[in-house]
Amino acid sequence: MRIAVLTLFPGMLEGFVRESILGRAISSGVIDIRLVNIRDFAYDKHQVTDDYPYGGGAGMVMKPEPLVRAIESVTAGVEPRPHVVLMTPQGRLFDQARAKGLARLESLVLVCGHYEGIDERVLSFADEELSIGNYVLTGGELAAAVVADAVARLVPGVISPGSSLLESFQDGILEGPQYTRPRDFRGMPVPEILVSGDHEKVRVWRRKEALRKTALRRPDLLAGAKLGPEDLKLLAEIEKEPEPEGL
Ligand code: ADE
Repeated sequence: MRIAVLTLFPGMLEGFVRESILGRAISSGVIDIRLVNIRDFAYDKHQVTDDYPYGGGAGMVMKPEPLVRAIESVTAGVEPRPHVVLMTPQGRLFDQARAKGLARLESLVLVCGHYEGIDERVLSFADEELSIGNYVLTGGELAAAVVADAVARLVPGVISPGSSLLESFQDGILEGPQYTRPRDFRGMPVPEILVSGDHEKVRVWRRKEALRKTALRRPDLLAGAKLGPEDLKLLAEIEKEPEPEGL
């Protein structure tokens, strides 16, 4: 998969690309990332990328020409046409389902806005707008990093298939609790069942605890989760049990 990130601040993403899961995916040849500086497409003497808003008001607006030229530089002649995403707080809320959808694409372009916003006419050069949450960042770079990370880890070959990293949210519920050594940490023992050696019991316990965590913390997720007959039975058991403290 090819990902191009269009930004006024490529330096913000260089370290992230190098140090994150993306770095590994690039080294193994599964993903190719390009950081494109939007300023390189501002052809006037001072390479201006923003201007005052028509109609007045505070703040600056990103000019359309450099942005659209930058988009065209990574899409022109490319087949199939890359999917262009604008990172904006006005976009549709990004979630795991959207990450899965984007991970199937061959080529993705993430455009980072800055200042008070971007000229509305740029929207017609994008396929969608995405927001990573109901808060306003100073620019789209952190949002693009979030999307690139969540998408890249779903591309086959980036994470080994059995990895637990793949599990949380995969079937719409949270991951259950995990433990490693020591067996007793400051008076808190690892649940007995995990050291029992009974793989089937461990599997059922893990599923139940994942369901419990989801029911307690994110009951909204349960409505859309893929639940089987065993899950429904476990949820019925959970309902009869007292709520654990400290979750
Ligand atoms: N740019 C500024 N805030 C943003 C957000 N919440 N999501 C995506 N892009 C943004």
